[in-house]
Amino acid sequence: MNLEDLSKVVLTRRNIKLFKPDPVDESLVLSLLDIAKFAPNHRMTQPWEIVFIGPETRRKLNHKADFGGAPLVMAVLSEGAAKDEDRVEQIIATSCFIQNFLLLAHTVGLGVRWTSIGAQPENRTLLHVPEGYDVLGVFGIGYPAEIPQAKERTMISEKVRHMP
Ligand SMILES: Cc1cc2nc3c(=O)[nH]c(=O)nc-3n(C[C@H](O)[C@H](O)[C@H](O)COP(=O)(O)O)c2cc1C
Repeated sequence: MNLEDLSKVVLTRRNIKLFKPDPVDESLVLSLLDIAKFAPNHRMTQPWEIVFIGPETRRKLNHKADFGGAPLVMAVLSEGAAKDEDRVEQIIATSCFIQNFLLLAHTVGLGVRWTSIGAQPENRTLLHVPEGYDVLGVFGIGYPAEIPQAKERTMISEKVRHMP
């Protein structure tokens, strides 16, 4: 493993807003998700669930920018838990899974647009989200037509403190 290569993947991944119409092979996305599943997760709960969204459901979601014209749209759900703190851990694990996926997608030239619309009650109903589950995102996936500039980040030194 090489730090320079991995850093480049992390640093150049962007939230893609606009896509080319070129189709995306669902089996390619599945193969990336199959690697992403090696994300950390407490007690091996593997709380992520994926919903591929077809044209009818996509229309009903009525996203303002139609996911930037992405040829493929999927939602990522995080399974619920009886205790609040366990539910938070499920969300954390699913977020790790998502980040793995974003980076893997980027390495094969795919872009991903993250939207939060799945959290809206009417969209939860539309997507048949089970009670207690969280929708962490509805993602447009495709080949980028535009790659935005990276936004400035706060110096990490401003986010670090030391305990005695
Ligand atoms: C939990 C979460 C929800 C997000 N929801 C949206 C969203 O609804 N719309 C959007 O344009 N971007 C959304 N984003 C993407 C961020 O806007 C994006 O990551 C941020 O602007 C930094 O840009 P970058 O990913 O290109 O570095 C979301 C990101 C996260 C982690």
